[in-house]
Amino acid sequence: MSLGQTLFASRLPWPADWPAIFGRAAPLLIEVGFGSGQFLLELAEQRPEANILGLEISLPSLRKVERKLARASFRHVRLLQATAQTVLWALCLPGSANGLAINFPDPWPKAAHHHRRLISDRFLHLAATRLPAGSHLDIATDHDDYAAWIAERLERTPYFDSRLATPFTTQEEARLGTKYEAKALAGGRLCRYFLWRRNETAAPNVFPIPQELPMPHAVVTLPLTLDQIQDGFATGSLLPRRWTAGHTSVRLNDLYRAVTHDALLFDAYVNEEPLDQRLLLVITQRRPGEFLLHLHEVGFPRPTAGVHFAIHCLAAWLTELHPEARLVHHNLLIEVPGT
Ligand SMILES: C[S@@+](CC[C@H](N)C(=O)[O-])C[C@H]1O[C@@H](n2cnc3c(N)ncnc32)[C@H](O)[C@@H]1O
Repeated sequence: MSLGQTLFASRLPWPADWPAIFGRAAPLLIEVGFGSGQFLLELAEQRPEANILGLEISLPSLRKVERKLARASFRHVRLLQATAQTVLWALCLPGSANGLAINFPDPWPKAAHHHRRLISDRFLHLAATRLPAGSHLDIATDHDDYAAWIAERLERTPYFDSRLATPFTTQEEARLGTKYEAKALAGGRLCRYFLWRRNETAAPNVFPIPQELPMPHAVVTLPLTLDQIQDGFATGSLLPRRWTAGHTSVRLNDLYRAVTHDALLFDAYVNEEPLDQRLLLVITQRRPGEFLLHLHEVGFPRPTAGVHFAIHCLAAWLTELHPEARLVHHNLLIEVPGT
């Protein structure tokens, strides 16, 4: 489950068993995007009674902070490679996180990239389902436009109230610092600190913990060889290689040929809330004209509804190759996920 002190969200069960991971039951405080780890380590120092969870997507940051943690020998801190969205949605039961600190989230300044901003109405709703009333949500930014964006969303969410008389402050003496903040202040940029609290308003839990389904498979018959199917991918530029349904999308990136057995391996993206997976979908020839479509185990893929949809899309792609092609058997959850 862990490599050094770093946990990988892709390997943890949904939801995670936090008391087992920390070796004790204690309030769970989460820092999103800990970067250099300065805030996380100071928080660990200040809150020995809490379980402290640091989230990062950057491996170099994880490695660096892992070394710092080993030197400090804290027993109540864990690092997790994951996005905040995945952790809150898939790993945390409703009400199971007791504080969320988001320090200088990436501002994504271009309008075309605003949809990538972490703070959104949906994210605040998700956070509201995982944080019990009274828990703190602290956000800091030095980016003027993102600050206005965050203020707008916080002010319209029914689930959080400011702990101040204003949406944010620019002076927060008691605050633990971050590396990014020090740079911003040295560069003369104004930092805004949003200090909010989860209120008593019930937040409908529209973010169910994802389920792992049976390993998906399908059998397609068609009068083609693997070589011809391979050619179909190489030359079939008119056939779709990307499918979208609701919040789920599947893309076939490339195709590889196994050399020891009769199989084609499709490198594919499966993007579904709350997780994105890059995995291998396989077409194995069982006998001439009969093909088994399944998921390769490399990379420990999780057989989610999105992955069932991916096998369904691959079957659809294969059956487009020949008018006599038939889907003869499958165990797929065919309801299109995310709709
Ligand atoms: C601008 S840096 C700030 C780092 C640190 N908090 C600081 O103030 O010095 C943003 C950090 O958030 C991480 N990050 C970006 N999106 C994330 C997400 N969805 N979940 C967790 N971390 C994320 C990035 O890898 C990066 O290290």
